[in-house]
Amino acid sequence: MTSSELWSREAAERYDTEETGMFSAAVVGPTVDFLAELAGDGPALEFAIGTGRVAVPLRRRGVPVTGIELSEHMAAVLRRKVDEETLPVTIGDMATTVVPGAFTLVYLVYNTISNLLTQDEQVECFRNAARHLLPGGRFVVELGVPPLRFLPPGQTAVPFDVSERHLGFDTVDPVAQLLVSHHFTRDGDDGRYRREASRHRYAWPAELDLMARLAGLELERRVADWDGTPFTQDSGKHISVWHKPA
Ligand SMILES: C[S@@+](CC[C@H](N)C(=O)[O-])C[C@H]1O[C@@H](n2cnc3c(N)ncnc32)[C@H](O)[C@@H]1O
Repeated sequence: MTSSELWSREAAERYDTEETGMFSAAVVGPTVDFLAELAGDGPALEFAIGTGRVAVPLRRRGVPVTGIELSEHMAAVLRRKVDEETLPVTIGDMATTVVPGAFTLVYLVYNTISNLLTQDEQVECFRNAARHLLPGGRFVVELGVPPLRFLPPGQTAVPFDVSERHLGFDTVDPVAQLLVSHHFTRDGDDGRYRREASRHRYAWPAELDLMARLAGLELERRVADWDGTPFTQDSGKHISVWHKPA
């Protein structure tokens, strides 16, 4: 039984944004370049594959990709783009689900490790990645740095987008290490806003490194984005690569 919230049919139908935002060539292109290089000649496994934002173009690049996904609604949207033989997906929890095969690359992008709301499950997720890797294979995680530096004492909310059609802010509970991401979005012109909120367990890069060590993985590289910009104290997110010793 996972602590992750289940993504609904409505959320799945709204997820893809054509060629904009997270689906823009500027985001997807460097992501696929980075992952294709790490996969090399071997197959890749995406944890929480969603609607295939990254997996479908990576497969088109020639990398065999398999997916694990909790929401059958998200997987159904992916299935409209590519058939099961070309890109197999197993419905299940990325912390525990085992699929056939051994992979040169397992990857988990777009902050999704934080959808596992307990430390135990996040550790299990690293162990599950290690279980699927060939010796020398890599596990890649893309995750935001917890936004605690933006919180003066007594304040719990951090806005990340205040625009005409969207108000987004995080509320943080530093004791429970939980973050709720709030979105108020105006779809039409009737002045009404749709409200969504998702819960996340945030973790610092150092905590992930310890999880990786528990799973027998070693840190190889940490950068600030898919273009390989160096990770610094001001980076808002990181892309971390751990490998399974050969
Ligand atoms: C932000 S989306 C990312 C989807 C895709 N990886 C992408 O980059 O577009 C998060 C996805 O994680 C899935 N998810 C959340 N918890 C999960 C879990 N425990 N096991 C597998 N998938 C999970 C959700 O159903 C959703 O499809």
